[in-house]
Amino acid sequence: MNNFEFYCPTKVLFGKGMIARLPELIDRSQKVLMIYGGGSIKKNGVYDQVKKALEGYNLYEFGGIEPNPKYETCMKAVELIKREGIDFLLAVGGGSTLDGTKFIAAAAKYEGGDPYEGLIVRCEEAKDALPLADVITLPATGSEMNNGAVISRIATSEKLPFHSDLVFPRFSIIDPQVTFSLPVRQTINGIVDTFVHVMEQYCTYDVNTPLQDDWALGILRTLISEAPKVLAEPEDYETRANIFWCATCGLNYWISLGAVQDWATHMIGHELTAFYGIDHGQSLAIVLPRLLKNQKVSKSKKLAKLAREVFGVQETVDLKAADKAIENIEEFFNSIGMKTKLSDYEIDPMDAAEKVRERFAARNVAFGEKGAITADTAYEILKNC
Ligand code: NZQ
Ligand code: ZN
Repeated sequence: MNNFEFYCPTKVLFGKGMIARLPELIDRSQKVLMIYGGGSIKKNGVYDQVKKALEGYNLYEFGGIEPNPKYETCMKAVELIKREGIDFLLAVGGGSTLDGTKFIAAAAKYEGGDPYEGLIVRCEEAKDALPLADVITLPATGSEMNNGAVISRIATSEKLPFHSDLVFPRFSIIDPQVTFSLPVRQTINGIVDTFVHVMEQYCTYDVNTPLQDDWALGILRTLISEAPKVLAEPEDYETRANIFWCATCGLNYWISLGAVQDWATHMIGHELTAFYGIDHGQSLAIVLPRLLKNQKVSKSKKLAKLAREVFGVQETVDLKAADKAIENIEEFFNSIGMKTKLSDYEIDPMDAAEKVRERFAARNVAFGEKGAITADTAYEILKNC
C-alpha cells in the first residue's frame, strides 16, 4: 500500500427529512446565497423545503447553473456575491450545481485576475474561498463529499477539473427521496458515473490494497443489484438510498487510499462533452470499454479479479477473464439503457479521435496510472468507440 493522507471535513446528513435540519447547520447571522440549476428543484418540492427551512434567514438566490456548469454563468454569481456581500453558499441541485458553487466560492475570493485562467488553466492553489454546503439531488458525482469540480468554458469549448481543500462542502444533505423525480436518463447517467469512478480508482495495478479493493467491488456489486430495481420502481426509498450512498462513497476517496489511480476515461470523456455536448455519464460509457481493451494487459490482474468477484466469471486465465470483465461491463451499461458507442450519439469516431488527439497533443498530456494514455493512444481508443 502506498502512503496516503486522508482529509474530508464534510458533515453528512443522510436520510428522510434532513432538509429541515438546515437551521442547525447555518448561522442565522450569515447572508446566504442559494444556488440552483435549471429549475428541477422548483418542480419536485426541494426548493420549497429549503425556503421553509431557512425562513427568517437573509436568503439570496441564484438560479440557472447548467449541466456541465459554465464558467461564464458562475461569474455572474460571483458578481452578485460581491455586490451583496454574501457570506455562505448553499448549492441545491445535482453535481453541476454543486461544482459550479465550488468554483464560485473560490472565484469570489480570487485576487490574481481571471479566476478561470488562474485556478483552472494554471492550476494555482486557491488561497481563500467562501464557505459552502449543499442539498445534493442527484447521485453520481460524489461532489458532496469531495474537493473537486469540473468547469466548462463556452468561449473555448473547454471542460477542465478544479480542486481545492477549501471547497469541501461544510455539510451535505442527502435525502434520497429527492431523487424520486429524476428523469430515467439522469438515473442511468448517475449509475454509470459512479461505476466509472470506481473503475478509475480500482482498475489500475495491484499495490496490495485488499480492503480498498473490496470496498470498490462492493460498490460495483451494489450498483449492479440496485440498478434494475430503481428502473422498475423509481420511488422505492431503500433502492434510491443504496444508490445514493454508492455514489457518495464512489468518490469520497476511501476506495483510492494508498492505491494507484487512472482517470483517463474521465479526461477523454470531458473532451467528448466539450466538443459534442453529450452527458458526462454517456461520455464515460462510450470510452471505458475501449480504454479497458486498449490497456487490458496492464490492467489484467484487477480486471480478472473484478470478472470473478463481481460477475462470477469462472475463467482461470487472467487475460481471458479480463476480456469477460470488459464484455460484462458493457453489457451491464446496455442492460440499463445506456448506449456505449459514438455512433449511438451521431458522433463520427474519426472526427472525435482527431479532435481529442489534437487537444491532448497541444496540452502535451499523458493520462492513466502509467501515463500510457497519450494523444496517440486516445486517438486509437476513440477510433474504436
Ligand atoms: O438543472 P436542473 O433543473 O436542476 O436539472 C438537472 C439537470 O438537468 C437534473 N436534476 C438534478 N437533480 C434532479 C434533477 N431532475 C429531477 N430531479 C432531481 N432530483 O438533472 C440534470 C443533470 O444534472 P447535473 O447536475 O448536470 O448532473 P450530475 O450530478 O451528473 O453532474 C454532472 C457534472 O458533474 C461533473 C461532470 O463532469 C458534470 O459536469 N463531475 C463532477 C465530479 C466531482 N465534482 O467530483 C466528478 C465527476 O466525475 C464528474 O466529472
Ligand atoms: Zn464522473
